[in-house]
Amino acid sequence: MTFRAHILGAAAGGGLPQWNCGCLNCSLARSGKIASQTQSSLAVSADGDSWAVLNASPDIRIQLSRARSLYPTGLRQLPLASVLLTNGDIDHVAGLLTLREMQPFTLFATQAIHDVLAQNPVFDALNASVVTRTVIALDTPFELVPGLTATLFAVPGKVPLYLEGEEVQTNLIGDQTVGVALQTGTQNTFYIPGCATLNDDLRSRLDGADLLFFDGTLWADDEMLRAGLGQKTGKRMGHMSISGPDGTIAAFAELNIARKVFVHMNNTNPVLRPDSAERAEAETAGWIIGQDGMEITL
Ligand code: MLT
Ligand code: MN
Ligand code: ZN
Repeated sequence: MTFRAHILGAAAGGGLPQWNCGCLNCSLARSGKIASQTQSSLAVSADGDSWAVLNASPDIRIQLSRARSLYPTGLRQLPLASVLLTNGDIDHVAGLLTLREMQPFTLFATQAIHDVLAQNPVFDALNASVVTRTVIALDTPFELVPGLTATLFAVPGKVPLYLEGEEVQTNLIGDQTVGVALQTGTQNTFYIPGCATLNDDLRSRLDGADLLFFDGTLWADDEMLRAGLGQKTGKRMGHMSISGPDGTIAAFAELNIARKVFVHMNNTNPVLRPDSAERAEAETAGWIIGQDGMEITL
């Protein structure tokens, strides 16, 4: 068994370019000067024949049209065996609506995330007679696809934006936001596209990992305010930022992780520009900037 990961989409919600955004990166992407990136999703496999998609992004149709390993192998035979959700955010669930063509697969998520889907009847488009919804308890290993064991664990985060009430806890620990541990033989990979803080529990889980895909939403916590694009900080959105004394680069400096890859990058993030000083700084600190189509094999 050889662990394979294929980044279907490296951008956060909105993608790059985002339809209504005229920021520097979005303008550069529109004119082809930097690469466009689709929304947050990772495909994984252990045998190369059977694949799981981690998060179903609104761009899944174009993502699956580009990912050769996931092309149909027969009239209605697909390498895609399962879909796993790490939260109920629109950038991670809206793509389920594209997967509605009476195609069998298993949909794995925690109870809280399944509840969100069950409360939205539009998701009944995934016919229960072919799409099996399986509830996964935290810290309980299960077979995601043949040869690949997954375990979900709580990651500090918040409820989806569209379910926010009057008061929002951005550091909630529960089953509304999870990370995924993936094990093939002795190889350990982690996928955490959204994370508000790196707490001691995460530190001890991640130390010694072979490969990590991690929340790279923003470079700086106030990046969107400074760009004149809104009032929200990264913290308010439940995302830690890459730079600064309490940023991701600093937080991971002491951990021993063989390969670290940023995913779920917002379109304002300067690391999306290959010639930026911020990208050089992240790469010098040992981080890989994920991009659509990137494949990593262990
Ligand atoms: C996030 O990652 O913060 C969310 O996807 C934001 C959103 O729902 O647009
Ligand atoms: Mn998101
Ligand atoms: Zn933009």
